[in-house]
Amino acid sequence: GITRHFKFDIKLQNVTRLCHTRSMVTVNGRFPGPKIVVREGDRVVVKVVNHVQNNITIHWHGIRQFRNGWADGPAYVTQCPIQTGQSYVYDFTIVGQRGTLWWHAHHSWLRATVYGPLVILPKRGIPYPFPKPYKEVPILLGEWFNEDPEAVIAQALQTGAGPNVSEAYTINGLPGPLYNCSAKDTFKLNVKPGKRYLLRLINAALNDDLFFSIANHSMTVVETDASYVKPLQMDTILIGPGETTNILLHTKPASPNATFFMLARPYNTGLGTIDNTTVAGLLDYASTSNKNLFPVVLLKPTLPAINDTAAAANFSTKLRSLASAQFPANVPQTVDRRFYFTVGLGTSPCPKNQTCQGPNGTKFAASVNNVSFAFPSMALLQAHYMEQSKGVYTTDFPNNPPFQFNYTGTPPNNTFVTNATKVVALPFNTSVELVMQDTSIQGAESHPLHLHGNNFYVVGQGFGNYDPMKDPAKFNLVDPVERNTAGVPSGGWAAIRFRADNPGVWLMHCHFDVHLSWGLRMAWVVNDGPLPSQKLLPPPSDLPKC
Ligand code: C2O
Repeated sequence: GITRHFKFDIKLQNVTRLCHTRSMVTVNGRFPGPKIVVREGDRVVVKVVNHVQNNITIHWHGIRQFRNGWADGPAYVTQCPIQTGQSYVYDFTIVGQRGTLWWHAHHSWLRATVYGPLVILPKRGIPYPFPKPYKEVPILLGEWFNEDPEAVIAQALQTGAGPNVSEAYTINGLPGPLYNCSAKDTFKLNVKPGKRYLLRLINAALNDDLFFSIANHSMTVVETDASYVKPLQMDTILIGPGETTNILLHTKPASPNATFFMLARPYNTGLGTIDNTTVAGLLDYASTSNKNLFPVVLLKPTLPAINDTAAAANFSTKLRSLASAQFPANVPQTVDRRFYFTVGLGTSPCPKNQTCQGPNGTKFAASVNNVSFAFPSMALLQAHYMEQSKGVYTTDFPNNPPFQFNYTGTPPNNTFVTNATKVVALPFNTSVELVMQDTSIQGAESHPLHLHGNNFYVVGQGFGNYDPMKDPAKFNLVDPVERNTAGVPSGGWAAIRFRADNPGVWLMHCHFDVHLSWGLRMAWVVNDGPLPSQKLLPPPSDLPKC
């Protein structure tokens, strides 16, 4: 590989959408941010210079950062934020990974505007395990807020209520013609007939799973989270925040006299059945149809209803690793440690002398095993490296849930959560099985759980309560999908396996920013192995200080 240098200047930029202009934090003045294209084996060096008043960090979502958590990015986990006027160089090598990933800010809600694609091409001369595409196109799904997103979450944390929702969803930063005052801000993909296009879909939205479909075209899913999958033909896909999905789109053999909508709209069982928030882009066979002579037909796909859990499961349960000789699935066949995590929303008591607007006068909170993870005032990775965890974190993360979750069809009213910085410490190379059980008050969503620094295999999932007697017999240990983010189904469970072979401190959290902010997060500390090649590297000299 070669070394590729990039510079990210964090600066303010005025951006207008929906006839509303606001000043936003951007990388190099661009919204969405710049696309990074590299190859497997390359060393990537990104100098980030902070010219704004906000603290910031950048996370390279899905990059394994082997022994190199210093470049991972989550604030107060692997580094302190980059403060105004300071800079930090993210320096990492891409080992054994190729596909679509992305980068985003990992402090407060800055990722609403600070994000972009991270495309890793295979090594030179190594083809894709699917037909070569004619063109490759990133499709970033996101959200547009008329207000400052950091102010939105700050206000919600203060009042204890749910945060204001965004005004629109976007494709490559553009809301499209179904919103008011937005027709000119429409993403248009011009295609030729009879060609294959590789669409690199990234869900960069803050708080919603999205259904995505293109009118009168079926799509073939070939990769998720930068891992190849068995080709899967679908009319509609589901993509959770943090997840990436590569699809091959085979265009029609001859130019139809029509333009086709591509649409994305949330999947969320908590919102009732009515939903008007649909982002649209256009698929246009521009080259041969003569728009001046013929009327153009505009065709729309039919998306599942917003609460269509069956449609969501229909997609996520069908994904399988490619599991070929060249790209094998290395699913751990034995397990050293088993964990059972309940994930979901709860509440915490309203502080004295305050009125809270959460359920029954409390504050919304979210937790893993009823612990709402509190960020320390220094980076966990530094404390771990210096062997100075005292006063920063404790290793008594509860494994057995503190309450008996008994799924009856109605999610329970959770008890109050505990606020603490508790981690799970693992010996190097531990084979881990983790069952995550959804427990939520007030309706339910599929929580996209993201693990930093590791990929995992989704060996099982189901609805209702996980049954430790019956469900393991149904686990797929042959070709389960490999991911870095996976949905814990609404009112259900997901079981994952991974090998903890990456020494460092790795955050795991719900990729809905609101749940992350409410505390649906925890961290794994993976200790060094005995060999020099199994040890965390020393920190770089420019690592920001708190
Ligand atoms: Cu894409 Cu911790 O995040």
